[in-house]
Amino acid sequence: QMPVVVTGVASGIGAATGRLLDAGGVPLIGIDRSVPGSFPGTFVRADLSTPAGAREAARAVRDAAPDGLAGLANIAGVPGTAPWRTVLGVNVLGLRELTRALVPAVRVGGCVVNLSSAVADGWRQRLAEVREFSLSEEPEAALDAVAGEAEVTGNAYRFSKECVRYLTEHLAAEYLPRGVRVVSVSPGPVATPILDDFKRDHGVAKVEGAGALLGRFGEPEDIARVVAFLLDDAAGWVNGTDLRVDGGLTAHRTVAEA
Ligand code: NAI
Repeated sequence: QMPVVVTGVASGIGAATGRLLDAGGVPLIGIDRSVPGSFPGTFVRADLSTPAGAREAARAVRDAAPDGLAGLANIAGVPGTAPWRTVLGVNVLGLRELTRALVPAVRVGGCVVNLSSAVADGWRQRLAEVREFSLSEEPEAALDAVAGEAEVTGNAYRFSKECVRYLTEHLAAEYLPRGVRVVSVSPGPVATPILDDFKRDHGVAKVEGAGALLGRFGEPEDIARVVAFLLDDAAGWVNGTDLRVDGGLTAHRTVAEA
């Protein structure tokens, strides 16, 4: 059985995805910049904040999996409290380069799952900027190009997850002839260390209000189960799309604001 690669395995949703896939007998290769307390598979320590770091990680993965990969779950991410260049570097450019470097090793029928966010639902309204940044072949120039745009640098997390939605669609189309699916998952607030950063970024009242409305925050397992389903052949006709997993928060807000 070929392994699945999971990024962000040292914490939160990535760690939960690793545990769940392992419990289902799926061999794993995990990537993170932090060393996890325990990991049920081969662990590759790498910094995915630059394309070069992502390519280095991909080389280590391909050495560890000479027979190919069953899939890739791009879960590593940084919150909007990090410097905006880091946010775009990890959440968009690193994700894109790792995907490009690993997809040639993914088996026919395999799948790439990208973690976006429910905050990215408006991505088509910014399609031109989102597309331009997502597809730029010069990472430093792409970052410099948006440095003067307050809408991007002031909302780097949202913009990064909008780019993930765009890349999901774009790469799904690109890899269709290869038989590799690409999908994204968009969580609402999930109880992981990132949630404290969201409180600093969006305000405690907004995040706590969402938890109160829903009765609880999401658990990492709520998202991991969806990621595992999408990676599985059972989801073979789910491609190039996003699945929002937010307990109904977005639907509630949309109806309330209409
Ligand atoms: P987390 O902070 O618990 O885990 C993120 C992991 O990514 C950490 O282990 C971290 O070391 C790793 N990482 C960060 N930068 C890295 C780098 N440069 N190189 C390698 N690894 C790096 O966060 P959580 O909640 O598990 O988030 C997972 C994904 O889900 C992220 O992409 C996040 O944006 C997304 N998400 C989370 C939500 C939440 O409420 N927790 C909501 C919506 C999306």
